[in-house]
Amino acid sequence: MFRAGLLYLSEQRQVFRFVRSNGLAKRFASRFVAGETLDTAVVAVRDLNARGISASLDLLGESVNNKGEAQAAADTAVAMLDRIAAEKLNSNISVKLTQLGLDLDHDLCVANARRVLDKARSLDTFVRIDMEGSAYTQRTLDLVEHSLFADYPKSVGVVIQSYLYRSTADIDRLIGLGMRVRLCKGAYKEPSAVAYPAKADVDRAYVALMEAMLSKASYPAIATHDEAMIARAKAYVKSQGIGAERFEFQMLYGVRRDLQDQLVAAGYRMRVYVPFGTQWYPYLMRRLAERPANIAFILGNVVKEGLK
Ligand code: FDA
Repeated sequence: MFRAGLLYLSEQRQVFRFVRSNGLAKRFASRFVAGETLDTAVVAVRDLNARGISASLDLLGESVNNKGEAQAAADTAVAMLDRIAAEKLNSNISVKLTQLGLDLDHDLCVANARRVLDKARSLDTFVRIDMEGSAYTQRTLDLVEHSLFADYPKSVGVVIQSYLYRSTADIDRLIGLGMRVRLCKGAYKEPSAVAYPAKADVDRAYVALMEAMLSKASYPAIATHDEAMIARAKAYVKSQGIGAERFEFQMLYGVRRDLQDQLVAAGYRMRVYVPFGTQWYPYLMRRLAERPANIAFILGNVVKEGLK
């Protein structure tokens, strides 16, 4: 119930307008968001790199309202790639297709994505296409598989969510294509017609998809903070003789920093997703829905800092 309420609030734009102007809420958000500008995000990436962790920079923002905003999001993505190269940061980027105009005009979205990927290919780096709610799954996969992958096979990859029933078939096909995939559990509010309602089923599906990817996929990304999943991955690669250089773990900025450092110390590759920008409200609400205890945790930190 509480999770559903937070996910509902994540979609309310009026609430965001109110929250964004609130200083306390901004400090609250800074636990999970690396500031509102590229400069603040670059500082966060440098700190991660110093801890032996690579990054994926993400300009926060979902559906845009007009073509100008979609083009501006693509311009920012290109600027992020240039900045990463100029500062020699160990980071790629993540983008959402709705940000590049998927809801407005398919051709515009493809053109924007190609502009970003041209830059990524020229710099020999990588762009992850995030996965959004299930209304976008088919369109996202179609667009990447049919309009991008042939020209940018090393520069583009997608995300698969284990809570969707369809994901086993999607993973099989993507493994066949040799496309890079990030596996996560899925963060959106989904009906039982398309997604497992029970967490135990989502976790079971995660393990099955993860093992298939570790065995057969091209450089899979295991994106989770769940220690049980991570322990299964470690045991599986050990039993199959899969080297630590053949995959990476991924986590979100500000979540389980202890576990991030432990995995690096144990010789695993670790990448952290670093979101930044003014549109942090829906992202923050999804993180709180995943773990309502974060509300108390962050409030406690804000109060502690306020008392200092
Ligand atoms: P799960 O939710 O089962 O929690 C297991 C444990 O992990 C918890 O008990 C807690 O200890 C810890 N934990 C989990 N979330 C936490 C949080 N917010 N704060 C503190 N502790 C937490 N989703 C999506 O739909 N599309 C996408 O493109 C992406 N991309 C993405 C990239 C990366 C790098 C990551 C790590 C995740 C995503 N996600 C995503 C989000 C993902 O789908 C999922 O919602 C979250 O990762 C939470 O699921 P977990 O597997 O971490 O564990």
